[in-house]
Amino acid sequence: MSKRVLLIIGGGIAAYKSLELIRRLKERGLAVRVVMTEAAQKFVTPLAAGALVGERVFTDLFDQSQEFDVGHIRLAREIDLIVVAPATADLMAKAANGLANDLASAVLLATDKPVLMAPAMNPQMWANSATQRNAATLQADKVRFIGPNAGEMAERGERGIGRMAEPEEIRDAVLAALSDGPLKGKRALVTAGPTVEAIDPVRFLSNRSSGKQGYAIAAALAELGAEVTLVSGPTALAAPHGVKRVNVESARDMLAASQSALPADVAVMVAAVADWRPAKTAATKIKKDKAGAADIALTENPDILATLSKPGKKRPKLVIGFAAETNDIEAHARAKIAKKGCDWIVANDVSGDVMGGDDNTIMLITKGRAETWTRMPKGAVARKLAAEIAQALTTKARRK
Ligand code: C5P
Repeated sequence: MSKRVLLIIGGGIAAYKSLELIRRLKERGLAVRVVMTEAAQKFVTPLAAGALVGERVFTDLFDQSQEFDVGHIRLAREIDLIVVAPATADLMAKAANGLANDLASAVLLATDKPVLMAPAMNPQMWANSATQRNAATLQADKVRFIGPNAGEMAERGERGIGRMAEPEEIRDAVLAALSDGPLKGKRALVTAGPTVEAIDPVRFLSNRSSGKQGYAIAAALAELGAEVTLVSGPTALAAPHGVKRVNVESARDMLAASQSALPADVAVMVAAVADWRPAKTAATKIKKDKAGAADIALTENPDILATLSKPGKKRPKLVIGFAAETNDIEAHARAKIAKKGCDWIVANDVSGDVMGGDDNTIMLITKGRAETWTRMPKGAVARKLAAEIAQALTTKARRK
């Protein structure tokens, strides 16, 4: 039987995109039911949404015919997932506080199914501490979020975070949330790509990491059903389907973004983090003729892997680091596990053309074993590693 999605359309200008979302969900064989709030009906009509789903749209908690027809409890339960798009500040506030004075909020309160919200609102409303508190409460209640994205707002000239995620992104998040993979319900954090450390407004220190291996791991974890946050330095790659990407530049930003992606069950630190950054970033472009401009004093960057590996309430159950090695791979990797405090190391043999290439030769080192994998494409490495992670997280006694 096809999976059933209940789409709750909130009252925001982004509601027109929810009509597109219905089509994108149906294309993937999902059965879609629609609930619209009163405010939503000011933006799109129940007739339009109903024509797309091929059945009536539910709007009223107190309409006898609608309640006899299905009833809000059945609407809330006889489905596999609820997606709220657009999730307005008002709907989020109601859901965070357990209010139930209309059909949409009553369904959200009555459900025992996973809920995915796609917030959409003015950037000021999103940034408001009341909305942020509500978002944190909902997250703690296991509500998943997709977006909001940064960009142009409906109000002319306004930009910022608050745009609803695109219908395709929401569809991918729905598919990931519905996946029956072994990592369903688990949260994963992956770092990938290089970091960029500013010298002045136009110059920076960075490295040649392509991000390919990290992106492939994020995609493989999402395919197994994990809810993945990918904290990425600048790369030329598109975000994998169903993965939440957070773009960063410096190591310090990467650390902050990684910490705010916690709690997570597993953290895979694939990024090539710059060990050093300029001690000072010049506010204006450093002139060629300035005496001393050639000397750039460096200072050490925080170690994200070591920081996340520290014992504590928020430490992911499984922390995995990468290590580029050319010789004595296992000994160096074991030393790195001890130094960083992580659980596993994936050691790349970088004596060949790994950086930027499509293949990888690796050795997986856990506390109890070391295993060399024959050279294979980065996608295959990622799937094999994701399978190992799934096994470790689903076996009661964690494999070390
Ligand atoms: O110490 P080294 O750079 O060899 O360690 C590599 C591992 O540590 C990788 O997993 C990398 O993502 C992580 N790392 C980090 N933060 C740093 C340096 C490395 O997370 N500042």
